[in-house]
Amino acid sequence: MEEEIKKFLQATGIKEGHPTEAERQLPPPPPERSVPEGARVLRLPEPGLLPDKEVNFLEMVEMRASIREYSDKPLTLQELSFLLWSTQGVKMALENGGTMRTVPSAGARHAFETYLLIHRVEGLPPGLYRFLALGHALLPIGQGDEADAALLPCFKSRNMVERSAAMFLWCADYQRMAHRFGLRAARYLFLDAGHVCQNLYLAAFTHQIGVCAVGAFDDEPLNAALGLDGENDFAVYGATVGKMK
Ligand SMILES: Cc1cc2nc3c(=O)[nH]c(=O)nc-3n(C[C@H](O)[C@H](O)[C@H](O)COP(=O)(O)O)c2cc1C
Repeated sequence: MEEEIKKFLQATGIKEGHPTEAERQLPPPPPERSVPEGARVLRLPEPGLLPDKEVNFLEMVEMRASIREYSDKPLTLQELSFLLWSTQGVKMALENGGTMRTVPSAGARHAFETYLLIHRVEGLPPGLYRFLALGHALLPIGQGDEADAALLPCFKSRNMVERSAAMFLWCADYQRMAHRFGLRAARYLFLDAGHVCQNLYLAAFTHQIGVCAVGAFDDEPLNAALGLDGENDFAVYGATVGKMK
């Protein structure tokens, strides 16, 4: 194993005698990045408005596959709302800065902000958005053409991203996890991301929406395009979605 990886595993091992900020009774960071004052926020339809589908679980896990080609049909806003709820929906806010959501997270820290690159969603102009999980709403942050120009070159699977109806990008707020776990937060963030994306695969599958996970991207330009500093806030994982052909 390379020295760098050995060092990472050692640095992020559970150790005694290194109290975390939470153990030192320091206040936790907020459970969501703030919204600029006066910003226009779009409320999403209730996720329950989309009729639930009865699925055979075994069939679903056997049939699940990464889908890289999508139909030209747009997603509906209800479908997007359902996918956002299934991946990051907040069921309860806790007093210690945590939240209970539709996916598991180490210490219920839920340190992700979900960014969306929207191409084809009914009633939503193409562009870059941030999901506001606490209020189940969207914050518009960039116009379609500009967002595409900045984001598409960052992906190895650029064509797939370009043809998707939408792309989900899960970006870490490192401090939200590190407050509780110290250096071990670095491991938990990447584990958390897997749960989120798996829920997306399964939720989408029930509505004939295809998903493909995306881990191959150029960190620096992607973080810059999303307005993230690449240190405390950085892109961890993504996924494209679109109606199955
Ligand atoms: C962590 C991770 C990163 C991935 N990154 C990409 C990617 O950047 N581009 C892509 O086309 N597929 C990506 N995939 C999808 C895998 O290639 C796919 O899951 C794998 O080939 C198995 O196929 P299946 O999902 O259909 O079972 C990624 C999957 C995972 C779990």
